[in-house]
This record gives sequence, C-alpha cells and structure tokens, in this order.
Amino acid sequence: MSLEISRDVPTEAALQDVSPLIETLFGTPQSPRWPVEWMATDEQRSLVSLDRLKIAAGGVTSDQENAHTGLYQEHCVICHGISGSGAGPASRYQVPYPRDFRAGVFKWKSTSRSEKPTRDDLMQLLVKGIPGTPMPSFSILPPSEREAIVDYVIYLSVRGEVERELLAFAIDMLDYDTTPPEEDLRLRLVSTADSAEVPSEMTEGQEAIAEVIDDVVGRWTSAEPTPVPPYPELEGDELAASIERGKEIFHGQIANCAGCHGQGGAGGLPSLDYDDWTKDFTTRIGISPDDKDAVKPFRKAGALPPRQIDPRVLAGGIMHGGGDPETLYRRIQNGIAGTPMPSVEISEDSAGKTGLSPDQAWDLVNYLSEMIANP
Ligand code: HEC
Ligand code: HEC
Repeated sequence: MSLEISRDVPTEAALQDVSPLIETLFGTPQSPRWPVEWMATDEQRSLVSLDRLKIAAGGVTSDQENAHTGLYQEHCVICHGISGSGAGPASRYQVPYPRDFRAGVFKWKSTSRSEKPTRDDLMQLLVKGIPGTPMPSFSILPPSEREAIVDYVIYLSVRGEVERELLAFAIDMLDYDTTPPEEDLRLRLVSTADSAEVPSEMTEGQEAIAEVIDDVVGRWTSAEPTPVPPYPELEGDELAASIERGKEIFHGQIANCAGCHGQGGAGGLPSLDYDDWTKDFTTRIGISPDDKDAVKPFRKAGALPPRQIDPRVLAGGIMHGGGDPETLYRRIQNGIAGTPMPSVEISEDSAGKTGLSPDQAWDLVNYLSEMIANP
C-alpha cells in the first residue's frame, strides 16, 4: 500500500485495527461468521447460509449417516489454501495458478467483466471443473455438498475483499497515516471483541465498515448474466459464409483477436503480459515482475512467483470456460476478467466503429467453433 500511494505510510495502525475487526465480523476460515447485523437487505443476509458454511468449514469429519464436514479442507485446500489465497501447498507448479478468491475476481462466468459470478456460475464450475487446467470436476459430490462449498467460496472471497478494502479505506480516507488516528475515524467496533453488534450511533469509522460490507456483498447480489440473443442456426453455404466473415473479424482491426492469438488462432506470439493477481504486487505498484529483489518481500508474504500469461492457442484448443456458442458469445462480449483479454462491445450502434453487431459476433463464434474443432 505504501508503494501504491508512493509515500511511506504507517500501515501498522491500520493492520492492528482491521485484523481483529475482520475476525469479529467474519470469524476465521475454520470457524466462519456471516455478519448479517451489518447487512442492508435480506438478499445480502441470505447470500450465504451459516449452516452451509459450517458444513464446508473446519476439519474433515463424517458421521454414521455419512454426513461430512470440512469439505473445503478435504477437496480444495491443497490448491486454494486455507484463506483462499490460491497459494496452497500444491499451487507452486500448477499452470495457471489456483485462484486467489480474496481479490473477488473470477474468470469463467456469465456476467460482465467487472461483475461477480452468479451462484449458478460457481455451481457449474464445480460440476465441470476447468478443463485444460489442474482444477478438477466435483460432479461426484452430492449437490448439497457442492452448494455448501459454493457458499464457502463466496464467503472467503467476501471476507478477503472486505479486509483489503477496509485497509485501503483506512489509509486513503480515514487518516490512519496521522498517528495516532483520530478515535472517531478508527475502524473499530465499540462493543466487546466477540460481538459484531451495530451501535445505534455510528462513528465515521463504523459507517465506513457498513459501506464497505454493503459494497462488496452488494456486488455479489446484483450479478446477472449478460443477455445473449438467440443463436442463428445456419447450415451449408450460409454457415460457410458466416465462418468466412468471422475469420475476417478475427483478423480485423476492431476485434483484433489475431493480435494476441496469432493467425488462425495458432498462437506463437510472445507473451509479455501478466494477470491481475500478479500485477497487483508488481507492475501496478511500479515493480518489474523480473526484479527478483523487489519481488522478494511479496514472495515472503505468500505471493507465488510472477509468471507471464499466454494468450491461448485456440486452434484445436480446450476451452477452459466452455465452448458452446452462447459461452463463446459471452467470452467475446465480456472478455476474461483478471487477464489481458479485453471485452468487445456488441451492439448495432457500435458495429463497424468501436464494436461488433450481434450478427457479426455470431459470425466470429462460428469461426471460433470451427477453429477449436480443427487443430
Ligand atoms: C489440483 C488443484 C485444484 C483443486 C484441488 C481445486 N482447484 Fe479450484 N482452481 C485450480 C486452478 C489451477 C484454478 C485456476 C484456473 C484458471 O485460472 O483458469 C482454479 C480456479 C478455481 C476457481 C475460479 C474460477 C473462475 O471463474 O475464475 C474457483 C471458484 C475454484 N477453483 C474453486 C475450487 C473449489 C471450491 C475447490 C474444491 C471443491 C477447488 N477449486 C479445488 C486448481 C484447483
Ligand atoms: C490482449 C490480448 C488478447 C486479445 C486482444 C484477445 N485475447 Fe483471447 N485470450 C487472451 C488470453 C491471455 C487468454 C487466456 C486467459 C486465461 O486462460 O486466463 C485468452 C483466452 C481466450 C479464449 C479461451 C477461453 C476459454 O474458455 O478457454 C478464447 C476463446 C479467446 N481468448 C478468444 C478471443 C477472441 C475471439 C478475441 C477477439 C475478439 C480475443 N480472444 C482477443 C488474450 C487476448
């Protein structure tokens, strides 16, 4: 944070207040809480259920009726880590790295680039896994267990993002860099350490807590799949003509897919970019990912070694997030969050200027489908 705002701020005070606050509000990953007291709407309060969280959290147990707990520990921790950092014991040699849920950014989803995934997106992900990556399918688990795990992923993500936003808030907005911070601005609950009660008169610091929770949880409850027009089923010459138009679009100026994915999606272009999880502790704060010494403190704090992200070889490739026409349409429309792959505006108005018309997007989908099927 000091590097991000280019001045030496005392982050100690902020950390000292935020860490216990997060524990009071959200408990620990082993023993979760869901701070309904601080939530504004029923939708937010019921985003996850504490009963389901308890099934997913904690150590692995099973009883005589074969009811399990500790699902996350059993199935996910080895890759995603206890706090959801993505830096579990088996993460180091995986390509790509397992997701760090705490940033609140997800790739394979039906919503627009900046939005959270829907609950259904996460359920689908557990059924299918992410083909072409180490992330396995959990289709053998009973649906009720997958539901509990989805709650838990959302919980870890919200917990991590609130923690981070509160730290940023402390330093940017609440003058934590004047020591000692003013009492009214501190991110502290007045009540006892194990209560998440909302005081009747909130301090400015407490209003900030409510605002951050509302912001993060609200983004989960508002997520909606982006609309996709019906797929025009084409055959024979019409389909061939559509694929031909799609090919031009793929290599053309507006979509410029070939600029990253190479001619015909064959790849081969040098990859020079990083994903957002890596940029977070490197390029965004002025550190070169190649600078081993500068990266060292972050590695010590748990970050995985920076690694470039490749635009995929699409020809004959495995689609990680699904390869049906509707999913490919959304991939074009929404890009891939957390990665350099941009979104392309799809509307009649922008067609030929800054974006594609829906029909052009379907042409591109038809070309992609052809390309994926033929290495
Ligand atoms: C063998 C390692 C491994 C295990 C076990 C594993 N994952 Fe993953 N997971 C990954 C990898 C690798 C990725 C990143 C894939 C990518 O970036 O495309 C990932 C990505 C994810 C994502 C992000 C998807 C997105 O849209 O960005 C979620 C959510 C997820 N895993 C949940 C889980 C859950 C829940 C479990 C346990 C039930 C689990 N994973 C078990 C390796 C694993
Ligand atoms: C700035 C570079 C860039 C551009 C431009 C770009 N992509 Fe990508 N694309 C990527 C990267 C990087 C990935 C790999 C993301 C990952 O797996 O994390 C990717 C992955 C994909 C995938 C694989 C999705 C999956 O489910 O596995 C498809 C399909 C794709 N791109 C299509 C396109 C199309 C179509 C265009 C043009 C509209 C395009 N890309 C433009 C960088 C780019």
